[in-house]
Amino acid sequence: MGRQVQVGIIGFGFMGTTHFDIYKNSEKSKVVAMADVDLAKRAGDISTVFANIGDGDNSKPVDLAGIKTYADGMDLINDPNVEMVDICVPVYLHKQYALAAISAGKNVMCEKPLARTSAEAQEIADAAERAGVKLMAGMCIRFWPEYKHALETVKSGTAGRIISAAFKRVSPDMNNIGWENWFMNADLSGGALLDLHLHDVDFILQLIGMPKAVTAFGTTVHSDHGIDHVMARYDYGNGTLVTAEGGWSPAKGTPFEMSFQIVCEKMTLRFASADGYSLIHEDGTVEKPEPSEAAMPTGWHVELDYLLDCIINDVKLDMPLNEVVEAIRLVEAEQQSIDQNKTVEI
Ligand SMILES: NC(=O)c1ccc[n+]([C@@H]2O[C@H](COP(=O)([O-])OP(=O)(O)OC[C@H]3O[C@@H](n4cnc5c(N)ncnc54)[C@H](O)[C@@H]3O)[C@@H](O)[C@H]2O)c1
Repeated sequence: MGRQVQVGIIGFGFMGTTHFDIYKNSEKSKVVAMADVDLAKRAGDISTVFANIGDGDNSKPVDLAGIKTYADGMDLINDPNVEMVDICVPVYLHKQYALAAISAGKNVMCEKPLARTSAEAQEIADAAERAGVKLMAGMCIRFWPEYKHALETVKSGTAGRIISAAFKRVSPDMNNIGWENWFMNADLSGGALLDLHLHDVDFILQLIGMPKAVTAFGTTVHSDHGIDHVMARYDYGNGTLVTAEGGWSPAKGTPFEMSFQIVCEKMTLRFASADGYSLIHEDGTVEKPEPSEAAMPTGWHVELDYLLDCIINDVKLDMPLNEVVEAIRLVEAEQQSIDQNKTVEI
């Protein structure tokens, strides 16, 4: 067996346990520590954890034998056996743990959004740059096989100019899901706009770049949630029609849905979580490519495998942190557009 990255996970909820499972099954990593404020989770009981994608069987306790458990994430960061800190706590806590891990000289995986605001995200990005540590933000859609393949296909020029692009990411109602219902407190999570829709905003920036202006419409189901559902239109000043819908307003039990349709001059690229991925050519022929990354169970596996490779081989991550900050900045422009009921120039 080759070198294994020694990982410590802070926050053992949906994402922390998902990452734990991936590290456990990878020969490139070993989880040596976990931290969570919840005593039950420190004992391996994850029955209160919710899942939206993946097998989601949380009824069985997790075996934490041989793994150091901490109530305080700062103690995990200071554990000399921890080489990489994986931050999977609610968003408003990202900054304090990310900055502490960076100043301890640890490599960092921080779940998305990197921070609650673009200003905080910039602070983290600057600190990581100064310290020379590797820091990845969990912008996992960049690693989702169909999204990655579509991005590469469009960037290669074979599809021709983009005429329109529409994205959708809709989850069932997240009320009473997550630790102390933090998703539903917009001050803590940023609402569906920042927590969910951000993925498509980041992908749009990768695909087409920063728009000249954005116009967004949003709705709130309960007053303290922030925006629960958004429809946004991105203006590139050249007639390209780009829209995205995101939210968690549908009833519980509604299937999670992520999809895109990118209409280009020479082909239309379509993906829907329920229907799969296809390229439809000008002459009507339909191709069903199988991206090589699809051999892994999810994009989260692809994402963490890439990060582990970069750490093991000491290779710079191909995820400039200014891009991660810019995605949050664009979401903030959408929030402003909704609040002021007007188009916002970027
Ligand atoms: N990339 C994705 O597709 C994706 C999907 C879901 C969530 N996320 C992100 O993952 C992060 C965590 O979300 P989640 O769904 O796992 O939330 P969650 O509520 O399921 O889990 C949060 C965990 O953090 C623990 N916690 C709270 N405060 C703590 C503290 N101070 N120290 C240590 N542990 C603490 C809680 O006990 C809980 O176990 C968020 O940033 C979220 O946006 C990403």
